[in-house]
Amino acid sequence: MKEEKISFSYQVYDDAKELPLEIQDLRQKAITTRDNAYAPYSNFLVGAAILLENKVVVTGSNQENAAFPSGSCAERTAIYYAGSQYPNQKIKSIFISVKSNQKSIENPTPPCGACRQAIAEYEVRQKQPIKIYFAGEKGKIMAVNSLSDLLPLAFDGSFL
Ligand code: THU
Repeated sequence: MKEEKISFSYQVYDDAKELPLEIQDLRQKAITTRDNAYAPYSNFLVGAAILLENKVVVTGSNQENAAFPSGSCAERTAIYYAGSQYPNQKIKSIFISVKSNQKSIENPTPPCGACRQAIAEYEVRQKQPIKIYFAGEKGKIMAVNSLSDLLPLAFDGSFL
């Protein structure tokens, strides 16, 4: 038996002003988009902004449904739109911003497992890492250099 180890590093930004300028802009777009969330059941609003290599920003928010599993997370709303409209543009970064109508969220809030799997598909497809930034309504911002840092040992098409 051999014991292996996977490790990853992440960045913590105490203030949005520490972010590169194009990511400050991406953050603003994620925040603005967050207000378009349709979240009457959870009251948890999520905005995702995706920066493509041609500098276009694609955004999405969570869209809930009375039949709960039929709803869509913000990240998947955005990434499927990006894949549909800009199939040949690589994704450089995604900024995810959350807000609750019920409490103040001050911790960076990472994407859910299903969204990690969805984003992983595009990272594998484009053969280039996607940088993921995530934040609460206030407080610190966290970032990882690649989606694979959030989903080690991922299942992908190579197994099929
Ligand atoms: N949600 C997202 O939009 N992204 C995530 O990564 C986590 C959860 C949404 C789904 C649902 O509308 C609400 O947040 C509460 O789970």
